[in-house]
Amino acid sequence: MDLLQKFCNYALVLVLSVSSCQASAILFQNGTVITWNSEINDLEIMHEASVLVTDDRITGIYSTSDAANATDAEVIDVTGKIVTPGFVDTHHHLWQSQYRTIGSNTTLAEYLQRFGELSPASTVFTADDIYVGEIMGVYEALDAGVTTIVDHAHHTWSNETAEAGLVGAIDGGGRVFWCFTVHELDNGYAVDEQIAKLRELAGDERLGGSSARLGLSFDGWANQPDTVRKLLPVVNETGVEVLTTHYVGGPWNYENSPSALDTYSLLDTPLPIIFSHAIFSSQYEYGLLTTHSHFASIVPESDMHYGIGQLSKAYIQPQAALGVDTHFTYSADMVSQARLWLQSSRALEFERVLGTWNVPSTSPVSVKQAFLLITRKGGQALRRDDIGVLREGVKADLVVFDGDAPNMIGWRDPVAAVILHSHVGNVRHVLVDGEWRKKDFVLLAKGNVTENQEAFVQSGGRIQDALEAMEFSVLEGDYPFAVGGVEYEETKRFDVTVENGTGY
Ligand SMILES: *[C@@H]1O[C@H](CO)[C@@H](O)[C@H](O)[C@H]1NC(C)=O
Ligand SMILES: *[C@@H]1O[C@H](CO)[C@@H](O)[C@H](O)[C@H]1NC(C)=O
Ligand SMILES: *[C@@H]1O[C@H](CO)[C@@H](O)[C@H](O)[C@H]1NC(C)=O
Ligand SMILES: *[C@@H]1O[C@H](CO)[C@@H](O)[C@H](O)[C@H]1NC(C)=O
Ligand SMILES: *[C@@H]1O[C@H](CO)[C@@H](O)[C@H](O)[C@H]1NC(C)=O
Ligand SMILES: *[C@@H]1O[C@H](CO)[C@@H](O)[C@H](O)[C@H]1NC(C)=O
Ligand SMILES: *[C@@H]1O[C@H](CO)[C@@H](O)[C@H](O)[C@H]1NC(C)=O
Repeated sequence: MDLLQKFCNYALVLVLSVSSCQASAILFQNGTVITWNSEINDLEIMHEASVLVTDDRITGIYSTSDAANATDAEVIDVTGKIVTPGFVDTHHHLWQSQYRTIGSNTTLAEYLQRFGELSPASTVFTADDIYVGEIMGVYEALDAGVTTIVDHAHHTWSNETAEAGLVGAIDGGGRVFWCFTVHELDNGYAVDEQIAKLRELAGDERLGGSSARLGLSFDGWANQPDTVRKLLPVVNETGVEVLTTHYVGGPWNYENSPSALDTYSLLDTPLPIIFSHAIFSSQYEYGLLTTHSHFASIVPESDMHYGIGQLSKAYIQPQAALGVDTHFTYSADMVSQARLWLQSSRALEFERVLGTWNVPSTSPVSVKQAFLLITRKGGQALRRDDIGVLREGVKADLVVFDGDAPNMIGWRDPVAAVILHSHVGNVRHVLVDGEWRKKDFVLLAKGNVTENQEAFVQSGGRIQDALEAMEFSVLEGDYPFAVGGVEYEETKRFDVTVENGTGY
């Protein structure tokens, strides 16, 4: 921060009007604010409080009676409203928006065949499709108050689709950690070329003026040693800010585990590493996470929707945050993910107790824990103390909930109100880096939202037509990605009708 800026922040708080300052300031006045108290390392609720935002930072949180006399600030009355940090989503594939609703009942095995990075997607999506899909993914997140997203961007099938995704992430206006995927492809886009593109994008000046950042994703730690060797120097040289990988153990055999990265002495890095899903992890793998302070991204809805698994979820939670994964199949708002995490975690433990013919007398997880997993823990997963919390000095990523809406009014505990009673329609205001992204329920993303939506509808229609015209083989026999002995198994289909047929 330069000296003038420091002066301006100081002056704005203490002096009535400092006309020489160009700082843009917003004062959210007289709401209930869910703040972070660094001294007690916990949430602290402040009622009748005001939050001052100056440029990209929160520069003060006061009780309304001694609120900043910041007459230069744009004053937003938040009486009766709840102010929370912007939510953090630690695992997402933003490019997949055009698939919306066509994966409504797919399993993960079907997903890999039809929609994944190595599916026919690379032959159907043009760079323009990727751009508009990516931007729509960001809009959906911002609309729901999700301000930070770790985007495992595996649409990098060519220089053009790679660049289009990054530019979409930038133009969308979210705090997107856009993680270039390096992968072994059979379409001629060689790993060396991918790495050359990654290096080029690392220096792209469009990144500088935006809230987007560059990261790296890679899923071959366990079985692609040649590519790993090429990748290791790149990590340092490109200055990527996060590394992410799919770690889905058990029969799935996506063994990008902490120990797989440890083989390359990668865990002792200042770079945050996020292990997505982290299903079937052992105590040893969890130990590596805690020892080296890296995080798992639990994706509650994904793991249930696709039949990926719930095992070990409860054990990795202290070293985890939450994520969305594939927003085309279900909800992309982190409050829904937190709620699904909360209730599915409760169900797991309650079933255990009930299975012993005992009666649960207490509840195993709380709304506060759910809230932490989509705020503070997300910031910690990125090793960013200035994200996912509201206190002086942090990034001004915040959300204002309409606490007086019919489904929320009457709350005493604002955390329970948000986690258990709110919906996206209650998200009134959203700020990223101190800039409006949603104001009075209207999305104010960068770019022309209407125009992008029109382009998106065209693109989505064409892509869904193309997918529907394709034939996919029935999944039976051996699951091909495991070493052996893993077979596909059909699930029983349940019946929801009393007439003939099942209603499926
Ligand atoms: C704001 O103004 C009021 C009255 O004008 C004054 O009593 C109070 O001390 C001021 N607060 C700050 C933080 O300057
Ligand atoms: C501040 O909010 C409280 C309710 O939380 C309300 O009673 C009070 O009138 C508000 N004050 C102002 C100045 O709006
Ligand atoms: C999912 O259900 C819909 C509606 O019944 C059906 O059209 C579609 O083929 C199903 N998809 C899969 C992958 O089972
Ligand atoms: C892709 O971009 C990289 C980096 O600029 C370059 O080296 C490579 O030649 C490009 N590939 C094609 C096919 O243009
Ligand atoms: C990156 O640089 C740091 C500091 O120079 C070094 O300790 C680390 O080993 C390097 N990591 C890789 C993967 O090269
Ligand atoms: C956005 O695009 C629509 C459709 O092309 C156009 O009517 C509208 O004027 C544009 N809005 C802005 C703010 O440019
Ligand atoms: C149910 O049975 C009736 C009469 O046999 C038949 O016409 C109808 O198609 C069946 N519906 C379904 C959903 O199978």
